[in-house]
Amino acid sequence: MPRAPRILVFSGSLRSDSLNHAVALIAASGAESAGAELTILKLSDHPLPVYNQDIETQDGLPREASAIKKLFREHDGFIIGCPEYNSSITAALKNTIDWVSRPEDGYPPLDGFKGKVAGLVSCSPGPLGGIRGLPAVRSILSSIGVIVVPMQAAVPNIHECLKGNQFSSESTQVAVEGVGRAVADITLRMLD
Ligand SMILES: Cc1cc2nc3c(=O)[nH]c(=O)nc-3n(C[C@H](O)[C@H](O)[C@H](O)COP(=O)(O)O)c2cc1C
Repeated sequence: MPRAPRILVFSGSLRSDSLNHAVALIAASGAESAGAELTILKLSDHPLPVYNQDIETQDGLPREASAIKKLFREHDGFIIGCPEYNSSITAALKNTIDWVSRPEDGYPPLDGFKGKVAGLVSCSPGPLGGIRGLPAVRSILSSIGVIVVPMQAAVPNIHECLKGNQFSSESTQVAVEGVGRAVADITLRMLD
């Protein structure tokens, strides 16, 4: 019997009331009901400088980058709420990925990403639900060795359809929880 998959849940928003974070938590409930152990991460709790190779060359990874990288390393998979900014990934999410992708003494390259599983969800107050940002996130993660599950969910008109941790539409609830469930199921198979 494999151990429970460890899933890190976060969003690419630094906003305290992030709706994408809320949607990621709903996806995470699907992972939890499929047997995963969750860790919730707020990127705003670990402020990072904008990646600059001079900083890394002079001082190595900043303390907060190293702390986030450790969290990535210690988990088997990720559930990521992906806000769409100007039709693509947010700077905060890309900056986090860039820092975590950097090498650290004593660890193999890309150890925060390689062979881990990710599920992507998004939402937006607009009619497209942030779906245009998801291919960018999928492409970036895939290129650094993450297995991104095929299922994803983009929830439009989020202000009208989210009440607490429930969507007004049952099919949306099932779709979002299903992304988390897929992450847990695939991770579990890989641990077996
Ligand atoms: C710089 C910026 C660009 C945005 N671009 C888009 C966009 O391209 N498509 C969209 O649907 N919403 C866009 N939005 C609106 C966000 O979807 C909305 O602010 C959302 O609530 C952000 O996610 P969060 O609640 O998780 O912080 C943009 C917001 C900002 C601040």
